[in-house]
Amino acid sequence: MTVKNIPGITRPVQAPEHDPSTLSNYHHFEMIDTDLNFDVDFDSQCITGDICLHVKVTRDCSAIVLDTSYLTIHDVKVNGTSKSFTLKERVPALGSALEIPCDCSIDLELSISIRFETTSQCTAIQYLDKDATDGKKFPYMFSQSEPIHSRSFFPCFDTPALKSPYKMSITSAFNSVMSGRPVSVTKYGDKSTYKYNQPVPIPSYLVAIASGDFEKLPVGPRSHVYCEPTNLKQCQREFDQDVEKFIKAAEEIVFQYEWDQYDILILPKAFPYGGMEIPNITFATPTIVTGDKSNIDVVAHELAHSWAGNLVTNCSWEHFWLNEGWCVYLERKILGKVHGPAFRDFCAIIGWYDMAKSIKAMGDNQDRFSSLYHDLKDGCDPDEAFSVVPYEKGSTLLYYLETLLTPEKFDPFIPYYFNKFKYRSLDSYQFLDTVYEYFSDDHELLDTVDWNTWIFQPGMPPIKPDFDTSLVNQVYELSDKWYNAITKKEDCHQFSAEDIKGFNANQSVVFLETLIAFNKNQGFDWTNQLPVLNVLDEIYGPTFGASANAEVLSRWYLLHVGGNNMKYFDILGNWLGSVGRMKFVRPGYVTLNKCDHDRAVAFFRKFESGYHPICQQMVKKDLGLD
Ligand code: BES
Ligand code: ZN
Repeated sequence: MTVKNIPGITRPVQAPEHDPSTLSNYHHFEMIDTDLNFDVDFDSQCITGDICLHVKVTRDCSAIVLDTSYLTIHDVKVNGTSKSFTLKERVPALGSALEIPCDCSIDLELSISIRFETTSQCTAIQYLDKDATDGKKFPYMFSQSEPIHSRSFFPCFDTPALKSPYKMSITSAFNSVMSGRPVSVTKYGDKSTYKYNQPVPIPSYLVAIASGDFEKLPVGPRSHVYCEPTNLKQCQREFDQDVEKFIKAAEEIVFQYEWDQYDILILPKAFPYGGMEIPNITFATPTIVTGDKSNIDVVAHELAHSWAGNLVTNCSWEHFWLNEGWCVYLERKILGKVHGPAFRDFCAIIGWYDMAKSIKAMGDNQDRFSSLYHDLKDGCDPDEAFSVVPYEKGSTLLYYLETLLTPEKFDPFIPYYFNKFKYRSLDSYQFLDTVYEYFSDDHELLDTVDWNTWIFQPGMPPIKPDFDTSLVNQVYELSDKWYNAITKKEDCHQFSAEDIKGFNANQSVVFLETLIAFNKNQGFDWTNQLPVLNVLDEIYGPTFGASANAEVLSRWYLLHVGGNNMKYFDILGNWLGSVGRMKFVRPGYVTLNKCDHDRAVAFFRKFESGYHPICQQMVKKDLGLD
């Protein structure tokens, strides 16, 4: 086998390398299958459950060690016999190891059965009061486990390195979905049990539940959208036809969609991410439903995870870019097929500037996580490492390899890679070995790639690919005109609403980003440009300020608040009470905080309880409240 050594980098002793973000001794076991049952009680906001992990011992040991975090453990049985257990002292971020002394000799098969209960400190689940839902009639709950929150939801080997097929169920008073294929629904009094099956082996972070007053409608031959009844029809209109287009395009790029159904659940606004790639049913923020399909590209991303992440998985959060970088790369290939190649590059350009902004914001001393590979060996919380870097640097590396080797040669590598690693988890070294193995005639060319800098060094990538700029040129022309007018102190009333009339949502985003980025130019500072901000407001405010697209609206607000335009402080503050997606919530508070700390804190305190626990934790850090 080809093994690529990277100058300056010492290879780990095992492949894939050990996951430092789990306290479990997973490397002694192989998963056979898992039975997992939850019973949701909305009154106590607790879940009681039982799990049976069916494992095979691969290396001798004298205890089974699992991950838990703020869980109550009722009892443990191994192969039907009750076992004593200890919950170890809590380790910050990683939780409390559950140690079950047990003679585990190689090749032994064990059934580890545990009855457990979640507590009010559970970080994976959010309960929503009926007022926080659209219908305002019934409560709602959902889980969000990536990266390491499954352990606060059920005891497990909480590592993406281990995968298992699942038989699961949820018992709840409301309609419920899980990360698998629906099997049956049985009514028991005022609750029902919803059974699901996931025959494809999946890691713990992909196990998910949601329960609430939602219904479904078809949006394609193998797809449904689920949503509260109030918005269901609108959701159907938003996704109808397009989901299948995305799936077909993805199948042409990689290979057949192996999961059977592909559904989408539109959650209440508190959902902290744009989307989450739950197998068979993507969980998504309602901000992607805009009425004009301008934000449904998030679906292409989550769908692409069906291959990148869900079939082929990062072995630990240190190699997160293998999930997200590959996923963004596939997402943009899908969008290129659907909307044309210029659109693919347009998205890549937006991504490049997002990355530049994010790396700049990290500053030179905090750029630990601006490298593709994230060193988490000190037990650091993987949520802390999260940024757009693994998405954008990762997809740029793949794009660069595609252009270096030519698309004709790179395209067939895609199915090769996904086929080689499907149902498995890998690290960056194995990725590299596979590139060298597949392109065996091109080693000289591959050796020109500065792998060390790309994968292990902080900062922007060593090379910027030549993107097709046709769709951004029009936008840059307008922003250049503004820059000249401002710096030459010309009257800005020469501009008009006509300038942006033909812009689609993505072009509006790039335009606003470019305006915000004027700050990067020597001597330019929006905080000295209040009269210009007022003219911008007068001319474009009726368009941008009325946008139904949160991507546009958030940037419009950030431009003004970032420029210290006080008129927008409360507008942004109040808007932050209407979204829960961290992508908007965090920069919103950070920007407001720079101008007016007390006001940022006051708004946060007002809306705090409506945010997801992870979001609350992150904003507290951002505002210096932790
Ligand atoms: N898997 C991620 C969401 C995630 C990452 C949750 C890390 C928790 C920890 C999901 O696929 C994602 O990337 N969502 C993006 C959407 C986008 C890139 C189109 C988001 O939420 O913004
Ligand atoms: Zn993703």
